[in-house]
Amino acid sequence: MIKFDFTTYVDACIDQNTKKELMTKKEKIDKQLNESTMNGWMDRIDENLVWKIKETAAYIKNNFDCLVVIGIGGSFLGSYAFDQMFKCYFNNKNFEVIYAGTTLSSRYLDELVNYLKEKNFCINVISKSGTTMETTITYQVLKDLLKRKYDENEWKRHIIVTTDQEKGKLREEVNQEGYPSFVIPDNIGGRYSFMTPAHLLPLAVNYHIDEIVTGYNRGKRLDNYAFEYAVVRNCLFQKQKMVENFCVYEENMQPFTEWLKQLFGETEGKEGKGILPTSNVHTRDLHSLGQFIQEGNKILFETFIKVEKSNHYIDYNGMDLHTINNIVEDSVMRAHFSGKVPCIEITLQELDEETVATLIYFFQLAAAYSGFLFGINPFNQPGVEVYKKEVRESLGA
Ligand code: PA5
Repeated sequence: MIKFDFTTYVDACIDQNTKKELMTKKEKIDKQLNESTMNGWMDRIDENLVWKIKETAAYIKNNFDCLVVIGIGGSFLGSYAFDQMFKCYFNNKNFEVIYAGTTLSSRYLDELVNYLKEKNFCINVISKSGTTMETTITYQVLKDLLKRKYDENEWKRHIIVTTDQEKGKLREEVNQEGYPSFVIPDNIGGRYSFMTPAHLLPLAVNYHIDEIVTGYNRGKRLDNYAFEYAVVRNCLFQKQKMVENFCVYEENMQPFTEWLKQLFGETEGKEGKGILPTSNVHTRDLHSLGQFIQEGNKILFETFIKVEKSNHYIDYNGMDLHTINNIVEDSVMRAHFSGKVPCIEITLQELDEETVATLIYFFQLAAAYSGFLFGINPFNQPGVEVYKKEVRESLGA
């Protein structure tokens, strides 16, 4: 279960008439969303596809020691964030999954190649366009390693591709080499692709994807909350609150805030508009950005993601440490609010796979609503293309 509080530490900071007026736009914006050609992420995933994903995950686990997932941006952050949230901090017993493809660091790739030399690894390369530079380079380097290690009949068994159904270099390669492959549908953009094989296959290796699917579908019931969240953010923006700081109280949720930054940053940041997403992990960052937030330039509002219950018990002087963490969270909200920083609160009853999948749908929907409220297309990212073009020209590619 997820609870939302968009009022306690917000109402005093927004114009209630603006909120009322924006709230009346839901029907119109739902219509825009329903008519969009990029709303495939709102559909139910096909059961046969879920079955095929599970079967492929079993193939990976039965035949290899390690899965290397290669992707970037929306083709990587969802499953990475989810995995980081649920795997153990220490002595992790999960099947080994390495996420690569997000850097051009030669040191990183060199060390990865050395590490994989002795491993019986398999690759899942994920790219909707099939042309993304970081993904392409990492894939090429690891494919070369496979070719050095195995003969032609063998190395091809180590590659699984997730890409567009028809277009792009990766699809051409699949057609030529006959690797197993999955499709990122045309009507789903990268950052909205959590409920596609791009994320479900890497996750199926270690997690119950039926629970993830159930949780995600449950998110559809939260449309009113998602709309109110989008409206409140817009009202805050109109009060010069240009930055949204996502706050989490579990270290392992930090990558989830990276997913949120990408979702909202690429969705809203265009035509000179949008709210800049940032994040804090508490209580760590209370000892750095905390000062700015409390007393600095009043450009921010915050969205706290709280986890009500924990199944880990640590006694501190007769008190459960998780309770202390939650008390600190409430205190921080009050303190920041007293420093004129509005705070939205989203409370997860528990941090489990189903609830997080529900939260993912909620945020995707809120981001889409928010884009329409800003009057921009929530589903493109023309700005990202600008740097890609510069790079292509510089490299003569
Ligand atoms: O959200 C998006 O659309 C982007 O972040 C893309 O996912 C990212 O640029 C990777 O693109 P591709 O999947 O084409 O490699």
